[in-house]
Amino acid sequence: MSSPIPVLHQFSLQALNTFGIAATARTYLRVTKKEQLLGVYADGNWATLPKLVLGGGSNVLLTGDFDGLVLHIGLEGKELVGANEQHQFVRAAAGENWHAFVQWTVDQGLGGLENLSLIPGTVGAAPIQNIGAYGLEIKDVFHSVTVFDPATGETRVMDGAACRFAYRDSVFKHEGRDLIILDVTFALPKLWQPNLRYAELAAEPGMPAKPTPRQVADAVIAIRRRKLPDPAVIGNAGSFFKNPLVSGAQCAALLERFPNLVHHAQPDGSEKLAAGWLIDQCGWKGKSLGAAGVYPKQALVLVNNGGATGADVVALAKAIQADVQARYGVLLEPEPVFI
Ligand code: FAD
Ligand code: EPU
Repeated sequence: MSSPIPVLHQFSLQALNTFGIAATARTYLRVTKKEQLLGVYADGNWATLPKLVLGGGSNVLLTGDFDGLVLHIGLEGKELVGANEQHQFVRAAAGENWHAFVQWTVDQGLGGLENLSLIPGTVGAAPIQNIGAYGLEIKDVFHSVTVFDPATGETRVMDGAACRFAYRDSVFKHEGRDLIILDVTFALPKLWQPNLRYAELAAEPGMPAKPTPRQVADAVIAIRRRKLPDPAVIGNAGSFFKNPLVSGAQCAALLERFPNLVHHAQPDGSEKLAAGWLIDQCGWKGKSLGAAGVYPKQALVLVNNGGATGADVVALAKAIQADVQARYGVLLEPEPVFI
């Protein structure tokens, strides 16, 4: 294909997904300027090819080679963009590393994002599933997002309502799935209060009664290092399944049979179950199927024990789903995006 767009061909994606799965992209472009996106979608050769927008690759499962164009988002830059009476506004480009961005805010004494320390990936992917951890989701500190719309070639700004954030969900997983996020702006509270709603965080040894944003960030980092595998050492994509939401009645019926069931009441009356507990109770913790396994310290995390293919991970995930469904009547939904 002749084109002025400087793509690379037959590009290995193994180092670009935290599961460490071997797969190849037919073509690959590192996007460092917004104009490159305009160029790709205005060019007849490239506009119709299937696209995969890739950030840090920490929430994807590659199930085979990608027969299209990978747009690897490398847009950089972060800045304080203003303030009003209640908030300071910070903006970061989509390709910035999420954890480094959070630490940059904390190091300036700006509180608000610290509970989301050490989540892998990029700023641009954070709104896609409304990332959350330790009592905070980005919707709680979100201001707006700038998106590129391939259908029109235009750029526009969307506020929180337009993003329709929910637990591990947003408009970008539905009607907005083709939009490409260029940058994200956060509203950080001037009157910061520590968010210690998550019991394990409040109980972290050494946590002062009135911690600073840095102390909260450090505690979150310490907890995460204890519980979750480092993708640089063992391939994984964090939680492999979402925590399932069931009705209050279904939860009550389950509690009669399983009194230790871990559940959290939601404002709408539904109950969120702990998928890790369900999988653990089915005896999967530390078990393997082929080269894919269940992390011994956290049953919700599937790992690549070395040389796993996407098919190995899918086979393990299906076996776990079948067992949890048979025992609890609950279907676990994968969290990563299957490619
Ligand atoms: P990718 O994996 O590259 O992409 C994910 C999806 O977003 C894909 O559909 C992709 O096409 C799309 N996408 C990426 N960038 C853009 C863009 N600029 N515009 C449009 N679409 C885009 N998640 C949590 O919520 N909470 C956690 O606590 C958490 N812990 C984790 C721990 C570990 C060890 C790991 C490996 C993962 C964890 N995750 C967690 C999941 C993951 O880190 C997040 O979902 C993260 O936001 C993914 O970012 P990424 O850049 O790697 O996205
Ligand atoms: N549990 C078990 N056995 C296990 C794992 C968990 O019994 O093997 C129980 C725990 O004892 C606890 C409950 O399950 O009672 C919940 O476990 P945990 O606090 O570790 O959190 P999680 O529900 O497994 C969620 C998010 C994580 C996020 C943490 C902290 C989802 C799908 N996962 O995990 O997000 O970091 O809470 O807030 O919501 C991710 O999305 O990739 C991710 C890592």
